[in-house]
Amino acid sequence: MSRARAASRTTAATGAALALTLLLAACGQDANRGGGGGGDRDPEAEGGTIGIAMPTKSSERWVADGDNMVRQFEEAGYDTVLQYGENRAENQISQIENMISQRVDLLVIAAIDGTAMTNVLQQAADAGIPVISYDRLLMGSEHVEYYASFDNERVGRLQGEYIVNALGLADGEEGPFNIELFAGSSDDNNTRYFFQGALDVLQPYLDGGQLVVRSGQTSLNQITTQRWDGGLAQSRMDDLLTAHYSGHRVDAVLSPYDGISIGVLSSLKSVGYGSGSQPYPVITGQDAELASIKSIIAGEQTMTVYKDTRELARQAVAMSDALLSGGEAEVNDTESYDNGVKVVPAYLLDPVSVDGENYQLLVDEGYYAESDLG
Ligand code: GAL
Repeated sequence: MSRARAASRTTAATGAALALTLLLAACGQDANRGGGGGGDRDPEAEGGTIGIAMPTKSSERWVADGDNMVRQFEEAGYDTVLQYGENRAENQISQIENMISQRVDLLVIAAIDGTAMTNVLQQAADAGIPVISYDRLLMGSEHVEYYASFDNERVGRLQGEYIVNALGLADGEEGPFNIELFAGSSDDNNTRYFFQGALDVLQPYLDGGQLVVRSGQTSLNQITTQRWDGGLAQSRMDDLLTAHYSGHRVDAVLSPYDGISIGVLSSLKSVGYGSGSQPYPVITGQDAELASIKSIIAGEQTMTVYKDTRELARQAVAMSDALLSGGEAEVNDTESYDNGVKVVPAYLLDPVSVDGENYQLLVDEGYYAESDLG
């Protein structure tokens, strides 16, 4: 679509934009239009309107993703509509349907349930609205133009490598060390990439007996955590401790996400880990959420994987710019992300391992202020 066409569609959509703002306000949802949250369309915005569908405000990372995109899209001359589905797939689908009926020019979607989007993506295609899959791959549809994410398998490898190094396994420690495995939501395509990446590193030690999963729960369907819910992870850890750890110590926990790590830590604390005689296990995470950085500084969680949401937003804006001006976006992976119908061209950013030694880089890079870390 040409810029000029996008601009004229936007003008035609101005009345609809107002209607959308009113509709969303009536539904108690956010509508951020020009100027980062005001109700009126920004008359300066000439690039079109971007519909941004995010999963939940209950995780700080998605709040940052949404805010970063609104800011960066508006700097690039677009209007935005930002919506959070609060972890209910049917909410998110109806939010996207509203955006389609109001004829946004492009959709950026981080799916709550990546497998439930086929119909709504067809509706977007029928309305001529291109779609970018954000962080999580949209499954089962040809109507996904690009995928902006991080190297998800590498995230898992960083977590696995951290455990191997922290326990000294790479230096020949024999253990055996007890480890329990946690994975993310089964309906998030990233989950299996994180797990596979970690397992690639851990498997030789599981096979060699230096690492032992006392619960025996090692297959993905036994260890997933629906909607990445920290409370569910906490209950599962409670059950594991009761059933398999009386008289035994947990030496490591593979956790794919900071919210899960915090849940697991609560469970461990409740049975006395963290006191002098019973130090915490090595426990991984992901997203560099503030609560987890503070936990790392306090010597509780051991590491996290930092993924700069500002960079991810930048990719989404660059891809949108390319699509709306009829060009091609830069990608760096055209093989890894098959959604069952097509391989979606992707731009994958580099994740970074962060622990008690190097967390200061988050301040150096301006991701957090020193004062945030308290
Ligand atoms: C994944 C994402 C992770 C984490 C998790 C829970 O899709 O890649 O970084 O945020 O969701 O929100």
